[in-house]
Amino acid sequence: MADVNKSFNVNGRAYPFIDHTFDVVVVGAGGAGLRAVTGASEAGLRTACITKVFPTRSHTVAAQGGVAASLGNMGPDDWRWHMFDTVKGSDWLGDQDAIEYLVRNAPAAVYELEHWGVPFSRTEDGKIYQRPFGGMTTKFGEGGPAQRTCAAADRTGHAMLHTLYGQSLRYGAEFFIEFFAIDLIMENGACRGVVALDLANGTIHRFRAHKTVLATGGYGRAYFSCTSAHTCTGDGNAMVLRAGLPLQDMEFVQFHPTGIYGAGCLITEGARGEGGYLTNSEGERFMERYAPSAKDLASRDVVSRSMTMEIREGRGVGKNKDHIYLHLDHLDPAILHERLPGISESAKIFAGVDVTREPIPVLPTVHYNMGGIPTNYHGEVLTLVGGDPDAVVPGLMAVGEAACVSVHGANRLGSNSLIDLVVFGRAVGHRCAETIDRTGRHADLPADAGEFALSRLDKARYANGSSTTAELRLSMQKTMQNNCAVFRTGDVLEEGVKLINDCWAAGSDLKVTDRSLVWNTDLTEALEYENLIIQAVVTMEGAANRKESRGAHAREDYASRDDVEWMKHTLAFIDEGARKTSLDYRPVHTYTMTSDIEYIKPKARVY
Ligand code: SIN
Repeated sequence: MADVNKSFNVNGRAYPFIDHTFDVVVVGAGGAGLRAVTGASEAGLRTACITKVFPTRSHTVAAQGGVAASLGNMGPDDWRWHMFDTVKGSDWLGDQDAIEYLVRNAPAAVYELEHWGVPFSRTEDGKIYQRPFGGMTTKFGEGGPAQRTCAAADRTGHAMLHTLYGQSLRYGAEFFIEFFAIDLIMENGACRGVVALDLANGTIHRFRAHKTVLATGGYGRAYFSCTSAHTCTGDGNAMVLRAGLPLQDMEFVQFHPTGIYGAGCLITEGARGEGGYLTNSEGERFMERYAPSAKDLASRDVVSRSMTMEIREGRGVGKNKDHIYLHLDHLDPAILHERLPGISESAKIFAGVDVTREPIPVLPTVHYNMGGIPTNYHGEVLTLVGGDPDAVVPGLMAVGEAACVSVHGANRLGSNSLIDLVVFGRAVGHRCAETIDRTGRHADLPADAGEFALSRLDKARYANGSSTTAELRLSMQKTMQNNCAVFRTGDVLEEGVKLINDCWAAGSDLKVTDRSLVWNTDLTEALEYENLIIQAVVTMEGAANRKESRGAHAREDYASRDDVEWMKHTLAFIDEGARKTSLDYRPVHTYTMTSDIEYIKPKARVY
């Protein structure tokens, strides 16, 4: 139901808006968003999906190697082993109740995808093909590698996204495509909906909903070199910060070991799963020294650090000795053609390499944000201020890379993100069905609903300084790349805190030249930059404050994990008006969901 007759006046300019009412509004149409849309609409809830790109262009499309679930198609497997690996991969920062929920529900979620039509690769006897991935083992780490990652060649995300989009259309959900969500509508601590701009015609829309679900992905584009699409600007995370709510564990940024040198495009970990290996300038398979047991299939943080150490010690390859080689040239070309066709093509296009003959030049590249919007395992956003640690923000949910449930803790295992999308996307659908009173009427929106979003839009639209978004963004990206990278030290991080706050302050000098609301990429990029910079600031500050090494956060001045002081989640808040941030901490959940498995106690993390 749309209502067109209202408008706000901002700085003397009238902004008419169109009102919509739904039971559920999902922001984002990647794997998590589409799975949530499917579940909510299947339950008979009036569901909308707002997305800034056409659904099948969402970044899930770029996920390659596979989706983890203990199906046991290639050898014995058990959800408890998957749980152990995920807890160890998280370096004991993951919440074990949530991890249990993830791994127990993983096989059913994969079979559901299979029944919905995902064209998984097959074994000789017709089962879903599963490949080894980093950190995935059997028998609680004692029994050798697990083949747990279910693959559709090296285009698993592409196959999943297209299938999920098809499913999400089955139950009458409405899609608002190429709509840019600007800000949440909050009232007395509850979320009442979201305001969005229709990029194609410049109209402004207020979506009122019982539940607003943020499925807006990560913010990889805060960095200079990343595998993330240009759309990965963490828009939902930024909306949450601006609403006065915290983001969690933002200092944990994953570098994927094998981004193509110079281009940043992903070469799947599945390449090493199929037998690929890394070498330095001496032709040495150096991972044997760093991870004697798992070698090239150690977890990503370990492999990325090892590569960085080789380069630092002068054993990088190439003219400038600044990258590493990934070899697939020893593998049967027929296997490469069948299982890794996509990356064979990427290597040709982006590195000019024929993978059957030459190694691929690679470098650790920003790939995933373990941090995000804190939720419970139903996808409800946690308030985390005041006394009750389980209190949730009425009306607000988050899922996928935008959320921090936290199942990945300080380091995510490869192929655990695709399973996160579908398991928790499904959980969100269920929770909406359980908690929304379909007979209840929607309360009226507060009189000023949307005014905050429109004042931000107007401010960016008429920004009249002297720095373009491209200039501001580049200086943010270089600062993040230089000062918050694979290895971190106090001095470099402190400098980073100053530089990134300078970038934030420089935003007041923003220049937007095109004033139109219609297809104005200048304006959209300015709004995306405003989203990125606040996430960059809290990432840097969280990293500077965490004085230990854990997972992807590797401090050279605090080289060990410190469970006594630091086995806790970081909570970061901002006050945008005052341009101030603050940090707080909360305990990691040291309990499981059921008594079927005991809490896995911290121990040394070796591979
Ligand atoms: C990959 O295939 O290496 C990326 C998938 C993931 O990050 O889990």
